[in-house]
Amino acid sequence: MKAAVVGHPIAHSQSPTIHGHWLESTGIAGTYEALDLHPDAFADEIRALVERGFQGVNVTVPHKEAALALADTTDETARRIGASNTLVFTQGKIQARNTDAYGFWENLAPSLTGQTPKRALVLGAGGAARAVLVALQDAGVQDIVLANRTLSRAQALADELAVSARIEPLSWDDAESLMDQQMLPLIINTSSRGMKGENPITCTLAAQTSQTVVNDIVYNPLQTALLQSAEVRGCRTVDGLGMLLHQARPAFQAFFGGRVVVDAGLRHKVERRMGLV
Ligand code: ATR
Repeated sequence: MKAAVVGHPIAHSQSPTIHGHWLESTGIAGTYEALDLHPDAFADEIRALVERGFQGVNVTVPHKEAALALADTTDETARRIGASNTLVFTQGKIQARNTDAYGFWENLAPSLTGQTPKRALVLGAGGAARAVLVALQDAGVQDIVLANRTLSRAQALADELAVSARIEPLSWDDAESLMDQQMLPLIINTSSRGMKGENPITCTLAAQTSQTVVNDIVYNPLQTALLQSAEVRGCRTVDGLGMLLHQARPAFQAFFGGRVVVDAGLRHKVERRMGLV
């Protein structure tokens, strides 16, 4: 059995480490490689992998939208998110899935002590926010505030993705004030602020308490400025690495047929490989 992660560039991808760990721990005979595919050749290269008998591929930047467009069939989550991170090949056909919403929720849920919050503040309105908005609504969050530097982008995303929740667009400055003035049960950063320490989110979170869960989907560094501020306030914090690990589980099962878990051994392996610890 053969699978791969495809992107451009691809050297940074942790997927070979994650799937390699599980191939080893399950003893399943399979291979998982990283392939750098140029956008111009993406569709042809994917069809060549189908011909070569691959079980499927994980898809990363910049191919997630192209993957959705190329597929013969699409699952509902990928359609709603508007992007695919997992292509599964069955009998010569390509199915587009998206496991990012699943990975996000699996990473977050253990910190919610069994209760889905009614309200959430989502920071950022890019590609990552789409998966988060889908996951929050599927989990039953009813009231979402969506804050973004470019307000029009938050407005457009709210219009497009609001199904079971009310999604209220907000400017970034107003979101910072909101976090200082109102206790919120759940705050999630989906923006790229704070990645590699650049342009960190430095708000004070003055109104947040031990009842607030703060999740940053940025995982490099693990402890972002936002999570540091949250810890000072006594909030529960969730870093972003678990989302990366959990989104890979359904893909592994689809490619290789094995059920796998995210354990401390896998997490430490990825942390060391990325130089996060
Ligand atoms: P991704 O797919 O990782 O979400 P993206 O689609 O490029 O990447 O979105 C990046 C997000 O980070 C956006 O919400 C972006 O805000 P804008 O829509 O206003 O561009 C946000 N972001 C990136 N750099 C930012 C910065 N310096 N200040 C505030 N927001 C920023």
